[in-house]
Amino acid sequence: MNPIRSIQGMSDLLPPESARWQAVESCARGHFHSFNYSEIRTPLLEFTELFVRGIGTDTGVVQKEMYTFDDKGGDSVTLRPEGTASVVRAYIQHNLAHADAITKLYYLGPMFRYERPQKGRLRQFHQLGCELLGTKSALADVEVISLLDGLIRKVGVTDFTLEINSLGCMDSESCRPAYLKQVTAFFTDKAAGLCAECNRRLTTNPLRILDCKNPTCKEVAATAPVMLEFLCADCGPHFETVKQGLETLGVSFVVNERIVRGLDYYDKTAFEVLSNNLGSQNAFAGGGRYNKLVESMGGPATPAVGFAIGLERLLMLVPEKFGSAASRKIYLAPLGAKAHPVALKIARDIRAKNLVCEMELDDKSLKSQLRRADKLQCTHVVIVGDSEIEKGVAVVKDFAAKTQSEVPLGQVPDFLAGV
Ligand code: HAM
Repeated sequence: MNPIRSIQGMSDLLPPESARWQAVESCARGHFHSFNYSEIRTPLLEFTELFVRGIGTDTGVVQKEMYTFDDKGGDSVTLRPEGTASVVRAYIQHNLAHADAITKLYYLGPMFRYERPQKGRLRQFHQLGCELLGTKSALADVEVISLLDGLIRKVGVTDFTLEINSLGCMDSESCRPAYLKQVTAFFTDKAAGLCAECNRRLTTNPLRILDCKNPTCKEVAATAPVMLEFLCADCGPHFETVKQGLETLGVSFVVNERIVRGLDYYDKTAFEVLSNNLGSQNAFAGGGRYNKLVESMGGPATPAVGFAIGLERLLMLVPEKFGSAASRKIYLAPLGAKAHPVALKIARDIRAKNLVCEMELDDKSLKSQLRRADKLQCTHVVIVGDSEIEKGVAVVKDFAAKTQSEVPLGQVPDFLAGV
C-alpha cells in the first residue's frame, strides 16, 4: 500500500527544528509583552466575505490564493490567508475598544494561501504579527516598526533591510486620488505594453499594476509616477515624523517609493523587511497603517497599524544555534527488572526539578544505553543496577567533566539540580 504523504506546500515541523521555532516563538512573546501587547487567537476558518471585504476583491490573495469552500450548511468559508482581517473582525465583534482607547494584540499561527510552492513560499505558512488599534499618531508607526526591528535582532538576525514608503490617503483629493489619476493616465498611455490583467486593472485598481509580477509590466511600472510626490498636508508630515522617530531610535531604513503591498487596506505608512539570503521570496515581513479598515468592516472609525513576519522565512535567517544554550539533559539507565521501580521514582523526582530526563524503557545493556545517551546528547547518565540498589546509591556520570560519583538514591535529583 502506498503511504499517504502530506499536501504539497504544507510541511511537517520536525525536531530538532521545532525546538528552534519554540525558541523564536518564546523570544517573540517576551518581546511583545515588553511593549504591553496581549495575545489574540482567532479561528483558522472565517466567512469568505471577511477576507474579500478586508483584503480587497482585486488582490492576488483574494482572486487566486484563497482556500475557499462551501461548508455543509452551504456557507462560503475560507482558511485565513492572513491575520489582520480576523483581528479587526474580533475587535469589532467583542467591542475591544471599550477597554481602552488603544488595543495592542499579537498573534502567531498558520495562514493558508494557494500559491505555487517554492523555497520560502508555502501553502500553509506561519505568521507572527501584531496590530495596534486606536490611534492615528505617527509615533504608533514608529513603535510598531521599532518593535519589529528589535524582534528581528533579538533572534539573532542582523543582515536585513527595512524599507518604508507612504501610500498617502483617500481623504484629500490632492493625495492618493490625484496620484491615482496621474498613474492611471500614465498606464493608459502605455496600455499596449501591459498584460491583459493589468489592462483590466486600469479600470478596477490601477495601483495593483505597480505590484504585477509580469516582467514587461514591471518594466513599464519602473518609470511610473510615485505616490511620495503627491502626499497631502496630513500624510507628508506624518511620513516625516515616522522617519524622524526611527532615526531617533537608531532604526536603519531606506525609503523605497515603489512599495505598494499586496493587500488593499493600507494607507500612509507601508513597510517591508527584506534579506538577500532568502532567494526570490526576499521579503520576510511586511505591514503598514490601515486607517479605514475597521470602519469598512462595520466598526467605529479606528486608525490602526501592524505587521506580520513570515516565520518560515525568518527561521531561514535565524542562526542555527539560536536558543540551544547547553542545558542539563539526564539519561536514566536502569539495569535489570529490580531497578525499574527505583528508576521510575528517580525520573519523576528529576523532572519535578524541571530538568530534562530521558529514562530508558527497554531492557538494554549498559554499553548500548551509554551509546544512546551519547547520541541523544545527554549531559549526565544516572546508572541504577542491582549492586547500586543494594548499596542504596546511583552512579552519576558527568560527560562534560568526565567525572563519576556515587550518590545516595534519595539525593540524586538534588545532586543533578545542583551540579
Ligand atoms: P503579507 O506581506 O501578505 O502581509 O505577509 C506577511 C509575511 O508573511 C510576508 O512578508 C512573508 O514573510 C509571509 N508570507 C506571505 N505569504 C507566504 C507564503 N505563501 N509562504 C511563506 N510565507 C509567506 C500580511 O499578511 C499583513 N496581514 C501584514 C499586516 C499586519 N499588515 C498590517 N498588519
